Amino acid sequence: MTSFTINGRAVSVDVDEDTPLLWVIRDEIGLTGTKFGCGIGMCGACTVHVGGRAVRSCITQVGAVEGAQVTTIEGLDLAGTHPVQRAWRDLQVPQCGYCQSGQIMQAVALLKDFPSPTDEEIDAVMTGNLCRCMTYVRIRAAIKKAATETRHG
Ligand code: FES
Ligand code: FES
Repeated sequence: MTSFTINGRAVSVDVDEDTPLLWVIRDEIGLTGTKFGCGIGMCGACTVHVGGRAVRSCITQVGAVEGAQVTTIEGLDLAGTHPVQRAWRDLQVPQCGYCQSGQIMQAVALLKDFPSPTDEEIDAVMTGNLCRCMTYVRIRAAIKKAATETRHG
């Protein structure tokens, strides 16, 4: 049994400790906003936060999050009004949308470390989040817009 908090809710799951957190989130807890892409930590589609840091849930064993606070795209902001989500909507970032929950979770983590990120800082952090629809230019613009709105309220 592994116990942790997800989006502010305490949960306990009865699965092997080496089960990927991604499958626990999707199949045991039923939150399907977090996506499966590569399964080997290379694409970022499965990005969630553990203790406020971005992690790839496909290569994170659930046993490693015992007692931790996990946040998924569903828990980022219940009203969907987080500055990053607003910027994503304003600039119409998604195309097919498949990679976008991971992109947003990675972007939120990025802005904690770099409140006024340069292009280079954005690229350095976001390069590992792949988008087959090539939305990278809009992602970068949306991160900058969110940074500006966060600074100016
Ligand atoms: S599905 Fe986890 S990094 Fe690709
Ligand atoms: S929006 Fe389609 S994969 Fe990124």
